[in-house]
Amino acid sequence: MRELTGKCALVTGGGSGMGAVIARALADAGATVVVAGRRMDALLEVAASSKDIVAMTADVTDEASLKALFDKIASEVGDLDIVIANAGAAESAPFRRTGLDLWRRMMDVNLTSVFMTFQQALAGGMAKRGEGRLVAIASTAGLKGYPYVSAYAAAKHGVIGLTRSLALELAETGITVNAVCPGFTLTPMLERSIENIMQKTGKSREEAAAALTAGNPQRRFVLPEEVAQSVLYLCGPNSGSMTGQALSVSGGEI
Ligand SMILES: NC(=O)c1ccc[n+]([C@@H]2O[C@H](COP(=O)([O-])OP(=O)(O)OC[C@H]3O[C@@H](n4cnc5c(N)ncnc54)[C@H](OP(=O)(O)O)[C@@H]3O)[C@@H](O)[C@H]2O)c1
Repeated sequence: MRELTGKCALVTGGGSGMGAVIARALADAGATVVVAGRRMDALLEVAASSKDIVAMTADVTDEASLKALFDKIASEVGDLDIVIANAGAAESAPFRRTGLDLWRRMMDVNLTSVFMTFQQALAGGMAKRGEGRLVAIASTAGLKGYPYVSAYAAAKHGVIGLTRSLALELAETGITVNAVCPGFTLTPMLERSIENIMQKTGKSREEAAAALTAGNPQRRFVLPEEVAQSVLYLCGPNSGSMTGQALSVSGGEI
C-alpha cells in the first residue's frame, strides 16, 4: 500500500544503517525522500536504489549546514511532510575517562542535532500547514542506562524529553512528534561496537555479539527493517493520535 504517495520526507543519516533502510521504506510507501549525511558516496549509493530518493550532504551538528539543507530541499524538492532525525553516533568510555570533548561530541551529534533539525522543520511549510510527522531515532539508551556510554545515554534521554515536550506544544496542530527506541540493531554502528568489545576484551566476535544480545529477551539483534516498520507506522495517515511517545523496538528489553 503506497499510503505516503505525494509526501516529501527527509532522513538524516540516510546514507547507511537504519537511515538507509528507513529511507527505502518511505520511498516504497510512495514518498519522495531526501537522504542527508556527510559522505556523498554513501548517500548516492542509497539514492541509486530508488528513483524517489535524492542525496544531499549536510552536517547535522552545524546549524548553517542544516539551514542550507532545508533551503535546498524547499527549493529543489518541496515542502517537507516527514522529518526523521536519525543521524547519530555512539562513543563509549568509562565515566571517569569521559572527557568534556567526548561528552560534547555526543550531545552535539545525538541531541543538539535533533533540536536543530526539528527547529528547521518547523521554520518551513510544515508549521504553516499544521500537518506533519517528526520522528527522532533515539535508543533504548534513552529509556535506561548502559555502562560505559553515559554521554550517549544522557543525550538519548534528552531526545526523549525534547520529543515529549515538543509533542505537547504541537498537540493542537496536526503535527505529531515521536521517538523510536531501538535496542542493539544490525547496522555499521553495531559492527563498530562489536569490534570495539573484541579489541578491548580479547573476546571473539561471537562472544562480543553474545554480550550485546544478552540484554535482549529475544536473544537476537533488532533488524533495521523492524525499526523502519515502526517509523512507517508513525508516519502513516492514521497515526495522528500517536504523539509524544517513545516507541521501544527492542525484543521486550524495556
Ligand atoms: N545500531 C544500533 O544498535 C542502534 C541502537 C539504538 C539507536 N541507534 C541510533 O540509530 C541511529 C542510526 O544509527 P545506525 O545504527 O544506523 O548507525 P550508522 O550506520 O553509523 O549511521 C549513522 C548515520 O549518521 C550519520 N551521521 C553521523 N554524524 C553525522 C553528522 N555530524 N552529520 C550528518 N550525518 C551524520 C552518518 O553519516 P555520515 O557519516 O555520512 O555523516 C550515518 O549515515 C543513530 O541515531 C543511533 O544512535 C542505533
